[in-house]
Amino acid sequence: MAQDLDAQVIDTIIDKYRDVPGNLIPVLHEIQSEVGHLPREVQIYVSRRLNVPLSAIHGVITFYSFFSSEPRGTHTVGVCMGTACYVRGAEEILEALKAELNVDVGQTSEDGRFTLAITRCVGTCSLAPVVMIDDRVHGKLSRSDIPRLLARY
Ligand code: FES
Repeated sequence: MAQDLDAQVIDTIIDKYRDVPGNLIPVLHEIQSEVGHLPREVQIYVSRRLNVPLSAIHGVITFYSFFSSEPRGTHTVGVCMGTACYVRGAEEILEALKAELNVDVGQTSEDGRFTLAITRCVGTCSLAPVVMIDDRVHGKLSRSDIPRLLARY
């Protein structure tokens, strides 16, 4: 573990969930909230402490878009790729964001401000295509809205 402080924080979280069935996701979620992301060394540590195979931890982190093994930017930009958003141009919005931020999905812009992600349906299909920035929904977007939208952050 790189930092003793991280190990202490992680130990406390693991102890809290130790006897809870299906504890892997809540443990990872809380660690990410405290530490910011889930680097490989943290995954290995959790694997040993919870006695869960590293491959299972890696699988969970890869499957759920809210987990990240890379440091996150100040804001997370999530492009909804659910059906309604997809048919109304989500792919074009995603391409515009990639170009504007100069990143691929899962990466963070060089200035550390934005991490680009894709999400499943966020439940506001009538506003498709939708982009979530942190907890806020932005809907009925077109490619030309993207620079102005990011500038608000
Ligand atoms: S498909 Fe995007 S909000 Fe439902």
